[in-house]
Amino acid sequence: MASNLPVVPLDEDVYWADPYPILAELRENHRTAVTPEGIKAILRWDDAEEIKKRPEFINEGLEYIEARGFKPGDPLYEWRRYSIGALNGEDHRRLRGLVNRALTPKSADKVRPVVRQHVRDLLERHADTGEFDVREHIRIVPFLSIASFLEISPAEAAEVGQKMQGGGGDAFGPNVTQEIRDRANATFAVAMEFVGQLVESRRAEPRDDLLTRLIEAEENGDRLSNEELVVLFTNIFAGAIETTSSVMTSMFLEFARHPDQLELLRSNPDGFVRGAVEEVLRFRPGFYASGNKTTKATELAGLQFEAGEAVTTIIGGPNRDPLRYEDPNRFDITRDPTMWSFTFSMGPHFCLGQALARAELQETALAIAAHTRNLELTGESKWLPRVMVNHVDRCPIRYEFVP
Ligand code: HEM
Repeated sequence: MASNLPVVPLDEDVYWADPYPILAELRENHRTAVTPEGIKAILRWDDAEEIKKRPEFINEGLEYIEARGFKPGDPLYEWRRYSIGALNGEDHRRLRGLVNRALTPKSADKVRPVVRQHVRDLLERHADTGEFDVREHIRIVPFLSIASFLEISPAEAAEVGQKMQGGGGDAFGPNVTQEIRDRANATFAVAMEFVGQLVESRRAEPRDDLLTRLIEAEENGDRLSNEELVVLFTNIFAGAIETTSSVMTSMFLEFARHPDQLELLRSNPDGFVRGAVEEVLRFRPGFYASGNKTTKATELAGLQFEAGEAVTTIIGGPNRDPLRYEDPNRFDITRDPTMWSFTFSMGPHFCLGQALARAELQETALAIAAHTRNLELTGESKWLPRVMVNHVDRCPIRYEFVP
C-alpha cells in the first residue's frame, strides 16, 4: 500500500543538496517510495525500464499542469495542449515521426564545429585571469548551437532567447508557486507570439531551413497545424538549452573534482570522449524526474496502481542502481559508453534531441581537454532545490588556457 511507503523528501533542502544517499537507502531497503504529495516513485533500474516499456503507462497530459495550478486560457496550459510530451498514441507518433527526420545523428553532427569553437572562445575570453563562473557563462553555448541547428539567424535567436529568459521549466517541477506560474505564463506567451511570427514569415518567404521544412513536412497527407508548429518549435528551443547547459556545467564541475579522469581523457580523447560524456550524463542527470500515468488498473514494482494514477521515476535512482552499475557513486569515464543511463528516459517519449545533446557534450569535453590545464574549482557549488532541471547556483573555476 502506498501509505506504507517511505517518502522521498522532495520538500526538504537537504534532499536537493545531495539526493543520492537518500535515494540509495530508499532503493536498497524499500524498492519504491512516494513523493510528499503521495505519488508513487520508481527508483530501481529494472522497474524504471519496465514502466517506460509497458503500454499501459503513458505520459501525463493536461492534468499534469492542472495539478500545478494552471488553468485553461493560461499561456502554459494552451501550450501544453499541443506539446509533444503531453501527447500519446497516434497523435504522438505522427508528430514524432515528422520531427525525428530533422533531429537525426547526422544532422546533429553539423553543430560539432560550432560548439567546439564556442567553448574554445569562452575559455579564451577569460584566459587573462583564467577564472569564470561556468553556470553564468555556459548558457550561450547550447543557445547558439540550437540556433545554428534550427537554422535561425543569430538576431532571431537572440530575440526568442531573450523572450524565454524568464524560464518556464520549473513549472513542471515540484512545489510550483504563484511566482513560478506567473513567470512561466509570461515566458510562454511572448515566446509563442514570437515563434508564431517566425512561422508566418517563413510561410510568406520560404527558406532552405528547418522551420520551412517542418511547415512543408507531411506524413500520410497530414501536415502540422499552426498550433502544433509553434509549440513544437518552442518545445525544441526550450528543451534544448536549460538541460544541455545543466549537463555542461556538471561536466566542468566533475572534471575539476576528478583531475585524474580529465587526464585520462587528455591521454586518449577519441578513445574516452564517449565514455566521459555518458558518465557525466549518468552522474548528473539534467532532469530530476520523468512522469507517467496509467491507462488501467495494473501492477508494477510490487505496487498496485488505479486507472489514471500518476507515477514518477526519480532519475537519480536508476542512474545509480548498483545492480546495473558497479560502484555507482564512483565517477569513472572508463565505463562502457554503450550502456546508456536513464538521463534521456526511454520508450515512446525518449528524448528527441539526445543525438544533438550528445554531439554538443562530446565537443565540450574535447574542448576542455584540449584547451585547459590545471582545471580546479575556486569555490563551493550548491545544487538548487525544487527544480525540474538540475542546476548548481554557481560553478567558479580556474585554469590555464592552452591555445
Ligand atoms: C542533456 C540535455 C538533455 C536532457 C537531459 C534531456 C532529457 C529529456 C528527457 C528525460 C525527456 C523525456 C521526458 C519525459 O517524457 O519524461 C526528453 C524529451 C524531449 N527532449 Fe530532451 N533532453 C536534452 C536535450 C534536448 C535537446 C538538445 C533537444 C532538442 C533538440 C531536446 C528535445 C526534446 C523533445 C522534443 C522531447 C519530447 C519527446 C517526446 O515527448 O516524444 N532535448 N528530453
